[in-house]
Amino acid sequence: MVEPTTFVLFGATGDLAKRKIYPALYNLFLEEKLPAAFSLVGLGRRELSDEVFRANVEASLRQFSRRQPADAAKLNEFLRAFRYSVLDIGCKEDYEKLLRMIEQREQALDLTPNRMFYLSVGPEYFETIADNIQASGLGSANGWKRLVIEKPFGHDLQSARELNEKLSRAFEEHEIYRIDHYLGKPMVQKLEVLYQSNPVLQALWSNRHIANVQITASETVGVEARAGYYDHVGAVRDMFQNHMLQLLMMLASNLPYGSNSDTVRYKKKKVMEALEPLSKQDVHAHVVRGQYTAGTLQGKPVAGYTSEPGIGPDSMNDTFIAARLKIDDFFWRGVPFYIRTGKRMSEKATRIVIEFKEPAMQSSAVSHTGKTPNLLIFEINPVEGIILQLNTRDPQQQGEFKPIRVDFYEGNDNAPEAYESLIRDAMHGDPTFFAHWDEVELAWQWVQPILEAFQENLVPLHRYEAGTQGPAAAHAMLAEDGFRWWFDE
Ligand code: BG6
Repeated sequence: MVEPTTFVLFGATGDLAKRKIYPALYNLFLEEKLPAAFSLVGLGRRELSDEVFRANVEASLRQFSRRQPADAAKLNEFLRAFRYSVLDIGCKEDYEKLLRMIEQREQALDLTPNRMFYLSVGPEYFETIADNIQASGLGSANGWKRLVIEKPFGHDLQSARELNEKLSRAFEEHEIYRIDHYLGKPMVQKLEVLYQSNPVLQALWSNRHIANVQITASETVGVEARAGYYDHVGAVRDMFQNHMLQLLMMLASNLPYGSNSDTVRYKKKKVMEALEPLSKQDVHAHVVRGQYTAGTLQGKPVAGYTSEPGIGPDSMNDTFIAARLKIDDFFWRGVPFYIRTGKRMSEKATRIVIEFKEPAMQSSAVSHTGKTPNLLIFEINPVEGIILQLNTRDPQQQGEFKPIRVDFYEGNDNAPEAYESLIRDAMHGDPTFFAHWDEVELAWQWVQPILEAFQENLVPLHRYEAGTQGPAAAHAMLAEDGFRWWFDE
């Protein structure tokens, strides 16, 4: 049973709201996962009537929802909860007006004043909105209040700390839900369960048996129409500091059975604390910075980064990053974790590959021609699956090994989107799959020397052709350790 909720959406006419938030709410509604008593107030700069606002929401469902609004009565029932109010983010009177409107709705619908403030706006507005929520009394009703925000949470360690400091004047940590949509991906959420409920995995999950771990999030898209944002953040801030380190935490936290959200967050924090820090001078030895040049992708020529609209010809921005990380704890000491992410790579894929050691290799009397390490692969996106690569014998070729794959693919094309489970969890007050400030701060702390080394050009910027799996230097980094990236062929 979800408690009555008023969903206050800042940025109600924006792109994220249309593409993700309305479709997520609609699908939750169809599955009866929205609170029975639910009211949504959309806020934006533009004047809109409630009718036009609802029509816009409906249009976004038709375009982006995984289920089409086929039943008119159901759709109207959903849209009845939607109201719109114009709001200038910096204008105090607008918040007072909003408070009166929300109070009237709460009284009319007999709603407990539980209010969820979802900031689907640029991070430069977070502070002003949080302050005004507090000053207007919007956040001091006799129910709960929650703040939902999206990355980026700061631009570096210092700005992240300042932002957090400001937000914490109006909201306590337990009231802040920081969305990292990678934590909403079904396979990422399953990592915890797979480890906890499979003794066979638990037995293997450490430096005793694991040779290395590879986490890849490759994208085929380039900078798209986001030059203004992306050219200032690069892959390191856009993907690495948040999504990639969250994947690392989820994989390496060895959660005990029955962990609750506190344990999950505690264990993730422990992973970050155990990460061996890099000094600015060492960054070049463990981090590869890349930028795409013109190339061919899926048979079509594509421009290089510096020829993209809005990007200067001298931009040194990173569109690719690969790093070698070490976790200095009981489970993982000595196991390299290789992480890479980039734009304009050869395929769209988010996957984790766990390569196992081969203790028998040296002593085996049998010829090991063709033998490959055992691999466990988690396919996260766009397909979801688990694959185990084993060796068997090829009956045709005496004495030769043949790798086989035992695989499971999630066949549901209509699986819920990350935003559905995250919005539902935020309404339920379950913070398990949201980023805690401690994790965010530790992630910035780890990344800070990389930001500085990039800024000061202490690390070369390797070019890679669009449509490839990144610069040669990223391959050389694994080769130094006697490994290679799997599935780059
Ligand atoms: C976003 C980044 O957070 O994640 C984008 O800002 C990136 O640059 C996107 O394209 C990737 O998400 P997904 O779910 O498509 O892997």
